[in-house]
Amino acid sequence: MNNFVFENSTKVYFGKGCVKEYLADALRSYGNNVLLAYGGGSIKKNGIYDEVTAILETEGKNIIEFSNIMANPTYEKVLEGAKLAKENQVDVILGVGGGSVMDCCKAVAMAAVSQEDVWGNFWARPGIVDFEPLPLGVIVTVSGTGSEMNGGAVITNEEVKVKTGRDYPKCNPKFAMMNPEYTFTVSPKQTASGGLDILSHIMEIYFSEPNEDNVSDGISEALMKSVIRNLPIALKNPSNYTARSNLMWASTMAENRIIKLGKKTDFQAHQIEHQLGAYTDCNHGYGLAVLHPVYYRHIYKHGLSKFAGFATHVWGISSDGKTEEQLAAEGVEALAEFIREIGLPTTLRELGLTDKAMLKEIADSCNISSGSYRRMTQEEILDILTECF
Ligand code: NZQ
Ligand code: ZN
Repeated sequence: MNNFVFENSTKVYFGKGCVKEYLADALRSYGNNVLLAYGGGSIKKNGIYDEVTAILETEGKNIIEFSNIMANPTYEKVLEGAKLAKENQVDVILGVGGGSVMDCCKAVAMAAVSQEDVWGNFWARPGIVDFEPLPLGVIVTVSGTGSEMNGGAVITNEEVKVKTGRDYPKCNPKFAMMNPEYTFTVSPKQTASGGLDILSHIMEIYFSEPNEDNVSDGISEALMKSVIRNLPIALKNPSNYTARSNLMWASTMAENRIIKLGKKTDFQAHQIEHQLGAYTDCNHGYGLAVLHPVYYRHIYKHGLSKFAGFATHVWGISSDGKTEEQLAAEGVEALAEFIREIGLPTTLRELGLTDKAMLKEIADSCNISSGSYRRMTQEEILDILTECF
């Protein structure tokens, strides 16, 4: 294992009724002005908005609404939220939604108190957040990104066509509330997309050095098996609490830094997907679904023992009479088959990308991971994108 320092400051409230039981308490130590942030309105249809606002009103909170946060939140939207927060002397932000809402809120929490240009200083290049952002609490309504228990925020700057993320510990939400019942209304498309995002986060960490036996990889294997088991159940029966609760916690576990301990981490597929998103505004999990099998066909020979372990430990593929290389390749194909089975797209054209000429510009704009089993070049990323087309 590599050396590590671990800290996670987010307090988690998990389970049925957790918002009703704990939200008032969780907000009590902050002032009265609450910026209530949410997306395009799903929370108004499924009753979550009414439940949350009723609690805030009972507590005498002054609610300032910040709505219509889009999937793949933009820097422009962040500045809109920051302006609202400053004008209304907001004391605490309450984000109710998925990764897009939570990420936008983290960036707003920084932009509302920083005198600096947070894009230039913190997203465009890694900075050090040595100031206290506004306090943020989140109520999760869709599983996938794991943004609820880390300081990560992925923001798109449309002007320069860059979508990128940073994880600043000071941006960890003060608290995260997760009631799996809130995810019963998530569409099959978003359920599959979020499920694949969870799997992707775990794989991006698992497929990286060191390869020798370690606790983080063991936890990752258990998490991957749980997602592979529970995602099809949630798709078939959206109100299955066991499946939804396992997906919700697996999503958090994948991104709360625990399985990264002692590991390098890759995230090359994410780097490519983020630029696909910057150019096409595609759904995050959909982009990953298209990229992962193709990317892994490119690198698995450079991490054979781990890919062979993935085949046997995660997919239960028999090793009888097979070389390590055969087994590793079968693991990658099992992943590709799973992606097809849960109805995710397998080509960029299905994501609406019709202009092949755009691929070079996208490839050239991608960051290169230093944690991959084999370091990519921009040319190889273009090959991958072309194979995905
Ligand atoms: O906007 P509304 O109307 O609320 O609808 C949303 C949205 O259309 C809907 N939804 C959410 N909860 C629902 C619901 N629909 C019905 N019932 C509910 N209970 O789901 C749709 C997608 O929401 P979104 O927040 O965009 O999805 P997700 O959680 O996948 O977040 C995606 C964003 O997070 C970034 C992605 O790049 C993308 O921008 N990521 C953030 C990460 C992080 N902070 O650590 C890591 C990830 O790798 C990822 O990059
Ligand atoms: Zn992701």
